[in-house]
Amino acid sequence: MSYFADKQDLVADIFSRYPDSPQGRRSGLMPLLREVQDAEGFVTEERMHEIAALCGTTATEVRSVMSFYSTYHTVPTGKYHLQVCSTLMCALAGSDELWDELVTGLDVQPGEVSPDGRFSVQKVECLGSCGTAPVIQINDDGFYENVTPTKCRHLLAQLRADHKPEPDNLVPVKVNNQGLQMMANGQNAGASGEVLRPLSSSELPPKPEVKG
Ligand code: FES
Repeated sequence: MSYFADKQDLVADIFSRYPDSPQGRRSGLMPLLREVQDAEGFVTEERMHEIAALCGTTATEVRSVMSFYSTYHTVPTGKYHLQVCSTLMCALAGSDELWDELVTGLDVQPGEVSPDGRFSVQKVECLGSCGTAPVIQINDDGFYENVTPTKCRHLLAQLRADHKPEPDNLVPVKVNNQGLQMMANGQNAGASGEVLRPLSSSELPPKPEVKG
């Protein structure tokens, strides 16, 4: 069954943010993916084909965009999707041990959901909070920082009781329902298509001098 068939206004709104051109249409790919994932929790092959048709591209390209961003899922995730940063700073600070603690403690592997539906796990690349390594992100909500094995066990105990603790920091940039990026404090992080404009020649930086 089509997801977007009865959401033509939403689709039109998403495409209105981009130039009316084949390239502009393809720019709608990520917001369409986000829409499906927020509504259904993951993006099936069928949805990839639907998004590809809307954007004038192929399902293979949709999948390839998804594979670049750990935020998109092709399989269902648990109520608490634990993403462990496995890049260098976090690895040096003990993220491998954290990962072992999670997969053994929860008895769940990447791509699986624990039998009670609560947990899924994923290794991700740098979450941009290297100074507070090791870092775990839960869902799209926030970062848990300087996660020692004790802090990890405490976190899991609270999640098992469905008492998700407040994150140490919110995910810094979210996308609001107008499709605009905003900071955790609610300020817009970018500009809307209405105020963006090409720079005039007087605003462009000087061209570098070519020597020799
Ligand atoms: S290396 Fe883990 S947040 Fe950067």
